[in-house]
Amino acid sequence: MKDENSFILKGNIIYSESPTKLICIPQSYLICMEGKVEGVYQEIPSEFENLLLKDHQDALIIPGLVDLHTHAPQYANRGLGMDQELLHWLEQNTFPEEEKYADLDYAKKAYSIFAADLRKSATTRASIFGTIHKQSTLLLMDLLETTGLGCMVGKVNMDRNSPAGLCENRQQSMEDTLSWLMESKSKYRRITPVITPRFLPSCTDELLKDLSRICRSYQLPLQSHLSENLDEIDWVKELFPKAIGYADAYSQLDLFGNEIPTIMAHCVHLTNEEMDLIYENRVFIAHCPTSNTNLSSGIAPVRAFMDKELLVGLGTDIAAGNTLSIFQVMVAAIQASKLRWRLKDQDLKPLTIKEAFYLGTKGGGSFFGKVGSFEKGYEFDAIVLEDNSIKYPQSLSLEERLERVIYLSHIKDKYVNGNCISLLD
Ligand code: GUN
Ligand code: FE
Repeated sequence: MKDENSFILKGNIIYSESPTKLICIPQSYLICMEGKVEGVYQEIPSEFENLLLKDHQDALIIPGLVDLHTHAPQYANRGLGMDQELLHWLEQNTFPEEEKYADLDYAKKAYSIFAADLRKSATTRASIFGTIHKQSTLLLMDLLETTGLGCMVGKVNMDRNSPAGLCENRQQSMEDTLSWLMESKSKYRRITPVITPRFLPSCTDELLKDLSRICRSYQLPLQSHLSENLDEIDWVKELFPKAIGYADAYSQLDLFGNEIPTIMAHCVHLTNEEMDLIYENRVFIAHCPTSNTNLSSGIAPVRAFMDKELLVGLGTDIAAGNTLSIFQVMVAAIQASKLRWRLKDQDLKPLTIKEAFYLGTKGGGSFFGKVGSFEKGYEFDAIVLEDNSIKYPQSLSLEERLERVIYLSHIKDKYVNGNCISLLD
């Protein structure tokens, strides 16, 4: 029983079972067996008493955070060029930066910074966009593999409405996608490919249909963007007039869930019919409130998503989002929902702290399987949070300490599948 992937952490254990059920168990033992959660115990059961014990004393131990949507090549642009809306921002800031990833030396410099910062963050799983470039996307996957984190990574597809340096033709896009898949599919322990058409305006119908076939033949997941910005939605109407809406356009192109595990980022301006389609097809929504505020895209109706039992997680959406911290995105999700409630829709109550914590752990984690909780059988992804540098005079419950750590985060240790991740530079 003494393998490295089986051990016990002691501390204050906190995790979500559902959006409204937060479990807080003070001073208890979280047992990891071969990379999976065995359970949380008040006393160590006799069959586990030979396992290595790491005592984190009064620290909080929570599941690793999950970033359901981000763009690695845009990390170089974080905190820059925020004074625009989506379509101009893409043209003026984002596409020129992404073109640079044709150059592997530049990609290596930039992606090394991204991978190191993600490793040191509280995130343990992420679904990540690369660029159209096959080689630099493979390099990104190599670098992420060395972090020990669990990531899905996509070579982006774009064959229309894109600058020359980022525009593939359909055949090249397919060839590069297939050879990237062959090289990456079984190469890594914790990094897997995800098919990544950028969004409907930048891919022809034919390419989107080809990508759907690839997802089905190789049983691959898919990620893209949906209904982020009003001008984008009007543009999709022009490009695909036979659809009743943006989600229906993807659906007609056979790219909307329905056996393909799918993440759609944003979903700010959905109709009720689109929400129904998302529900029926079990599509995951990556809610990206920092991005939606920065690009003045709007405020997604997360309460409506929750009421309709849609599958929702959180995304940092770097560099439209300004932070790689899912804790900060939890805070932004709560703040945005409060503004929406006060200013627009009194029927949609703001998110609670419990719900935001759920979205950033088990909500997004479910896309990766049994991830984001400490229920038995879940992947052992955990972070240890030290809050003793936050000074306060009153006594606080575990739930209050969790809330404060979400707003003011401090991370001490991190595990993925029971492996300890280095937080050093
Ligand atoms: N829609 C298409 N591409 C992008 C992107 O890179 N970022 C965001 N926020 N939206 C997009
Ligand atoms: Fe995005």
